[in-house]
Amino acid sequence: MNQLSPEEKNNLPRHVALIMDGNGRWAKSRRMPRLFGHRNGVENVRAVVNTAKEVGVPYITLYAFSTENQNRPKDEKSGLMKLLEEFLKKELRSMMEDGIRLRAIGDLSGLPDFARRIVEETIEQTRENTQWNLTLALNYGSRQEVLRAVAQYGQDHPSSSHIPSWEEFSPYLQTSDLPDPDLIIRTSGEFRLSNFLLLQAAYAEIFVSPLHWPDFGRDAFLEALSNYANRERRFGKTSEQIHQPLHTS
Ligand code: FPP
Repeated sequence: MNQLSPEEKNNLPRHVALIMDGNGRWAKSRRMPRLFGHRNGVENVRAVVNTAKEVGVPYITLYAFSTENQNRPKDEKSGLMKLLEEFLKKELRSMMEDGIRLRAIGDLSGLPDFARRIVEETIEQTRENTQWNLTLALNYGSRQEVLRAVAQYGQDHPSSSHIPSWEEFSPYLQTSDLPDPDLIIRTSGEFRLSNFLLLQAAYAEIFVSPLHWPDFGRDAFLEALSNYANRERRFGKTSEQIHQPLHTS
């Protein structure tokens, strides 16, 4: 697929979150080291971000490094961090030209200093950009995010036994200034969320691609968007309720 229909373009997700899986398997099938897969994975980040801009998806969130990824071999972790640094250094100029604001979710204090610094600097430098939004989940785990939010909420409401509404609680999550993801894409044929945006995904549509992340390019992304555009999102209602105008009296 290399183009969306006009109807599909009218029904695009506002926020797409991607679980970029399969870099290791992609490299292995080429008898190459895992980092070769990650390097090609970064190239693909560019392809997906460009496609999002081309069709008009304003929010993209990428699961770049999970808390569980901390258990990977040292060399792989440091290689990933260097790729992250390289990516941010290279992309700063086009982020400024294109109006892309960078955000990060996750515990940045668990990143090596050089990586944390470049992430924080890029966030600061792109803070005023408003056109597009790229969020990197780095040393991120949804359970950890929720537990931190609960602790913070408790500190701010020490004597309250009232159960907060979602509107009261969600500002404590790190995604507080992002809309909930409408579509979560996972590559490499795995049907799991792997501790990614568990609460924010409450009503997200999920798309699993059999392709490994480095192969998930523009056409595959458009196919996922087209699939989303043709789904009916009911948010717990019936199909009839979605299609009938509300009676007002
Ligand atoms: C999953 O593949 C991928 C990762 C754990 C890292 C994803 C990171 C990047 C694409 C690079 C850094 C990102 C940016 C935004 C610069 P895997 O290693 O789990 O693959 P496997 O399951 O086949 O082993």
